[in-house]
This record gives sequence, C-alpha cells and structure tokens, in this order.
Amino acid sequence: MDYMVVYSSITGNTKKIATEIFSALPGMSKDMQSMEEYRGKDADIFFIGFWVNRGTCDMSVIDMLSELRNKKIALFGTCGLGNEEAYFRAIEQKVNVWIPDDCEYLGTFLCQGKMPMQIRAKYEIPMEDPKQEIWRRKMLQNFDEGLFHPNETDLEHAREFVERVLKSI
Ligand SMILES: Cc1cc2nc3c(=O)[nH]c(=O)nc-3n(C[C@H](O)[C@H](O)[C@H](O)COP(=O)(O)O)c2cc1C
Repeated sequence: MDYMVVYSSITGNTKKIATEIFSALPGMSKDMQSMEEYRGKDADIFFIGFWVNRGTCDMSVIDMLSELRNKKIALFGTCGLGNEEAYFRAIEQKVNVWIPDDCEYLGTFLCQGKMPMQIRAKYEIPMEDPKQEIWRRKMLQNFDEGLFHPNETDLEHAREFVERVLKSI
C-alpha cells in the first residue's frame, strides 16, 4: 500500500478533509479509514487527521502516531479557531511531537471547522469587563465564520497540501 489516510472526526469536518486528501492521492494503492476502523493496515506514507481538542489532538491520534515505525507522515486537522496562522503553527507543534524519531515528518495542513451550536450559547451573553467583551464578540464572530468551514477553498488548500507533500518526497 502506498498511502493510508486515517482520521479522527467527531462531527465530520476532519472526515471531509480526509476524503478530499484521499481523492487527491494518485493511483489505486491507497485506503482511507476512520481511527475506529483502523486495525494497523500498513502503507509507506500516512496522512493522519485529527480534530483539535483543547489545543491538541485527541488520545487516539497520539496512540496511533506513537506506534508508527519508519513511515513518512503528514498531518491534517480542523479546529474551531480560524485565520490564525500562529495558532495553527502552535497546534502543529503540539501534535507533531508524537511522531517517532525514525519516521519522516512531511508537514501539517490545518483549517477551520464548524463547531456545535451549543458552543455558540457560551458566547452570547454580554460581559461587563470591556476586554472580555471584545474577546466575546471576537469569539462569536469566529464561531459564525466557522459555520461555513471546511469550505471549497479549504478543500482546494488540502489538495495543494497533498501536491506539496508528494513533491517533497
Ligand atoms: C471538546 C471540544 C474541544 C475543542 N477544543 C478546541 C480547541 O482547543 N481549539 C479549537 O480551535 N477548537 C476546538 N474545538 C473545535 C473542534 O476542533 C472543531 O469543531 C473541529 O473542526 C471538529 O472536527 P470534527 O468535525 O472532525 O470532529 C473543540 C471542540 C470540542 C467538542
């Protein structure tokens, strides 16, 4: 097997990116599985997807990454906060530390993903402190922008990421 795409996704955003990455991979020697389905199917190159959980990936992704040996690994993920390159890079660094030393790290693609409506309620109540109120409004705006992600541009960027990764090896 040339490529395995394995993803962790609760509400479907990361699955959407996984599907795009899978379809952008060339040839027939490829497979895509969710983290729940994955039983150790081998490949030369892994694309591993995660949803951001409290600033990092969830445990299933950490477990999977830690067990890979001598593989080429690219990461991708979705998170609630968008348009923050510094935030994306901070997440990348928190997740790629789990890639073992004998594996080759090929980079990370991140984009915004919509969040469940219950989370919006947290940001709907005005705050007395002016600084917190500015933050609340920013979070509300971010939430509403997130409702449209992953969008077509995100999917295009995911395909471009695959092209860059493949050119680099
Ligand atoms: C429990 C929980 C924790 C989250 N933590 C973060 C976080 O720390 N940073 C962030 O940007 N988004 C966070 N999110 C938002 C998700 O990462 C985002 O909605 C993601 O696209 C979900 O991916 P999925 O649809 O593949 O499950 C969190 C969501 C949940 C439910």
